[in-house]
Amino acid sequence: MGVWLPSSLARTMLTLPLGTHTSLSLDLGRTMVAVQRVDDGVTFDKDQLTDETLKAAARFRDLIVFAGPDGAFMPLQMVHEGRLHKLVFAGRAPTLTIAGIQMHRVEDPWGDAQAKALCVVRRGDWVLDTCGGLGYTAAWAIEAGAGMVVSTEPNPAVRVLRRYNPWSPPQGSHGLLFHAVPAERLVERCADGVFDAIVHDPPRFSLAGWLYGRSFYDSLHRVLRPGGRIYHYTGLPYSKRKGMVFVHNTAERLRRAGFSVVWDDSTTGLVGRKR
Ligand SMILES: C[S@@+](CC[C@H](N)C(=O)[O-])C[C@H]1O[C@@H](n2cnc3c(N)ncnc32)[C@H](O)[C@@H]1O
Repeated sequence: MGVWLPSSLARTMLTLPLGTHTSLSLDLGRTMVAVQRVDDGVTFDKDQLTDETLKAAARFRDLIVFAGPDGAFMPLQMVHEGRLHKLVFAGRAPTLTIAGIQMHRVEDPWGDAQAKALCVVRRGDWVLDTCGGLGYTAAWAIEAGAGMVVSTEPNPAVRVLRRYNPWSPPQGSHGLLFHAVPAERLVERCADGVFDAIVHDPPRFSLAGWLYGRSFYDSLHRVLRPGGRIYHYTGLPYSKRKGMVFVHNTAERLRRAGFSVVWDDSTTGLVGRKR
């Protein structure tokens, strides 16, 4: 399967005194394993990481390195369309940064996705997760009992990083349909009123302004059933005062498209229903 080594963890393992027994996570915090420091590396579960591998991982500052069972390893970062995409360890689970911009509220990306999904997803719902990212909001929608989650992520670099992230739900997870097209194209193909809930967690406006536009909101309105619920993450971009103007304008466009929405301070997003 392989192990995940944030450079800081590799450095810690290199400095363990010989003979130390300790418990560490080699899968970014999902599970713990007993690790022992030996002469030329660390052993765990009848397996070994050599000092050579640890030193190589330690050299990639602030990156997570995936070390495969064949000894090959890969820093979890990719450049796509001139932008650096990388997995960054934060709180319980990694987040994704694109050109330095974090895709979750960074103190706890996993809890952030949970709070967003639970604003609108109820047992048995068919859910549209417009911006799949690492799949965290989709995973939480399934956890909340959704009957089906349709999720899409058009960016190939994000899809590769997701594949190597032990926190991301794998392709083919029960109840989860992952697509690879832009959300605006996916909704064109969806029937009227097919979803009970929508989780809209777009990149910030400067990266994908059309996902905040009236014509996209009209499409979301069409594919949601009457009375269906919508969550729209906005954050408070720019300064707090400018951020509230941005949120106000976003809410106004959603109202004109036919949603009633209110501000949710705990997730810094808008929660509403199709009128
Ligand atoms: C804030 S992140 C979503 C995080 C996700 N909810 C999660 O829990 O991991 C926004 C994602 O939208 C993706 N994105 C960008 N343009 C898009 C588009 N046109 N349609 C759908 N997703 C898009 C970005 O690549 C990025 O992965």
